[in-house]
Amino acid sequence: MKGLVLSGGRGTRLRPITHTAAKQLIPVANKPILFFVLENLAAAGISDIGIVISPETGDAIKDAVGDGSAFGVAITWILQDRPGGLAHAVSVAGDFLGDSPFVMYLGDNLIGTRITPFVEDFQRGSAAAMILLKEVDNPTAFGIATVDDRGHITRLVEKPKDPPSNLALVGVYFFTSRIHEAIEAIVPSARGELEITDAIQQLLDDGAKVDSRIIGEWWLDTGKKDDLLAANTTVLQDWGESSVRGDVDAASELTGRVDVGAGTTIRNSRIEGPVIIGPDCTITDSTIGPFTSIGRGTKITASNLRHAVILDGCRVEHIDDMRDSLIGQNVVIEGAGTDKALRLTLGDDSHVQL
Ligand code: G1P
Repeated sequence: MKGLVLSGGRGTRLRPITHTAAKQLIPVANKPILFFVLENLAAAGISDIGIVISPETGDAIKDAVGDGSAFGVAITWILQDRPGGLAHAVSVAGDFLGDSPFVMYLGDNLIGTRITPFVEDFQRGSAAAMILLKEVDNPTAFGIATVDDRGHITRLVEKPKDPPSNLALVGVYFFTSRIHEAIEAIVPSARGELEITDAIQQLLDDGAKVDSRIIGEWWLDTGKKDDLLAANTTVLQDWGESSVRGDVDAASELTGRVDVGAGTTIRNSRIEGPVIIGPDCTITDSTIGPFTSIGRGTKITASNLRHAVILDGCRVEHIDDMRDSLIGQNVVIEGAGTDKALRLTLGDDSHVQL
């Protein structure tokens, strides 16, 4: 079975961060979302992976992933010249996919389970496609399925105004080559995209069997800032590690699971896990956490931060209370010691003086 990872798109819902970075490369617990996806595919034995990229962010994604050897997989790069929809991405990948069955995985989705058992079920079964579903509270935001008592899909609809169920399509799909004919038969949706949801509905209309599995574990669609912070919280909570490779002085206190990178110095500070602090950071006279990820080479002085994602090379000084924040690379935030809670979303290279 092959893997197809969709890593194009413009990431408009995560601006301003995505003005300068691909959404799939935004880190959760200091690891790009796309790397979780590749690791999950590799763990399921899927080692021949096509990654669909856009002209805008493709080079950055290529640089980050390399040739795939870090994940034990071979990568084929596939350029999608415009954001034409998920089904359009599959047709662009036609030469790579050939007649092979494949797993399609959206590169900005995180799920709290391995896909290995689903890959095995799909390979053993006779369905033309299989989708993963998850109960959600906001079904108008997703593709939604209705399912019979054997788990077979009866109907699919993309972002319905009047949802027939609360079972959303998680961004992981299993297809046989029958999906290609179905894609040829559909037309663009109201948002001008060829929807994979419509292509799967087309399979149903053609009498094909479409199977499903409902996942009980968490699923995080990291399309927006709050989703990204929720993903960071969940991943730190479930998978956060305790490992101190940096230098922590006796005046500092670390509680819970705290991961401190090599070359990082912590002085007179309190770190409340789960927290990850990347390499080469300096944390002085500050309180960090819980649920906070700090990238490489960031310097935090006399500040209190919690529930935040801060990328590489930032400088934060004299901020009494910053929370629920997403801070891009090389951002400078200089406070004057006001005790108001700050909630910030800042793109790369921003400079804020309070
Ligand atoms: C896409 C799919 C939708 C699915 C969602 C999962 O939506 O069209 O059916 O539920 O991914 O993340 P989009 O993110 O393109 O709005």
